[in-house]
Amino acid sequence: MGGFNAKIGVLDSGIGGLSVLREIQRLLPEHPTVFVADQQHLPYGPRSTPEIQQFSEGITRFLIEQGAAVVVVACNTASAASLFYLREVFPTLPIVGMEPALKPALAESRSGVVGVLSTQATAEGVLYRRLLERYAEGKQVITQVAPELVRIAEAQSQHTPESRAIIRGYVEPIVAAGADAIVLACTHFPFVADAIQDVVGAGVRLIDPSVAVARQTARVWPVDVEPGRDTPAYYTTGDTSLFQTRLKALTGIGATAAGLTWSADERVLGLRG
Ligand code: DGL
Repeated sequence: MGGFNAKIGVLDSGIGGLSVLREIQRLLPEHPTVFVADQQHLPYGPRSTPEIQQFSEGITRFLIEQGAAVVVVACNTASAASLFYLREVFPTLPIVGMEPALKPALAESRSGVVGVLSTQATAEGVLYRRLLERYAEGKQVITQVAPELVRIAEAQSQHTPESRAIIRGYVEPIVAAGADAIVLACTHFPFVADAIQDVVGAGVRLIDPSVAVARQTARVWPVDVEPGRDTPAYYTTGDTSLFQTRLKALTGIGATAAGLTWSADERVLGLRG
């Protein structure tokens, strides 16, 4: 796996994974990256586990074909549904996943009350349940499923009055319960963090685990594999020009994105021709 022109492969259902990718690129500027956004299937949050596993597997295969020596599942939802599955299907590939940053949030909280904003699949997943069992005893954790925030982040519409009202609906009960930290347990949410912070005020910390995930990516890069020299590559199963616009606005990167299509059985990804 990897070998010549070895890269870091990064996947998400949409632009959310760019919040992780930018930290990886900051920490490992010499490592080429290849990013896939499965915007055709967005949102992943309400989908079934087998469906998310199927898409994650197809994207991972594509990333390996592009030279990925490490794959980062830059999506809490895909990690919740498919991390163990992917590790079984690709046993020799280092795979970095995401889980809600409950531990650092509880460590920082003085009130002992923290909120977690996530998708439905993340909230219902075994990864999150284990974290609650491990770290939340004697604390109050308020889990808020916030599917509309994914759509708002994709559209970058967080400052419209409608979006503000939706955000308020999600976070005000968390703040009213005394939370002083909120975990952004979906990689889309750092891209609406400005609007969330406005609503919750400066006394509540928003916890984004992207930097920790980038560090973990550096740790699992195989020591015997030389990083390739390609420039970063961006792919989407959705609209390429809209993706490029968001990429530029959210990360400052001006790059061309290539379009991908799924095979008829939605298992194999190929270049849109
Ligand atoms: N960015 C994703 C996450 O971290 C998923 C959003 C979605 O497609 O529902 O959970």
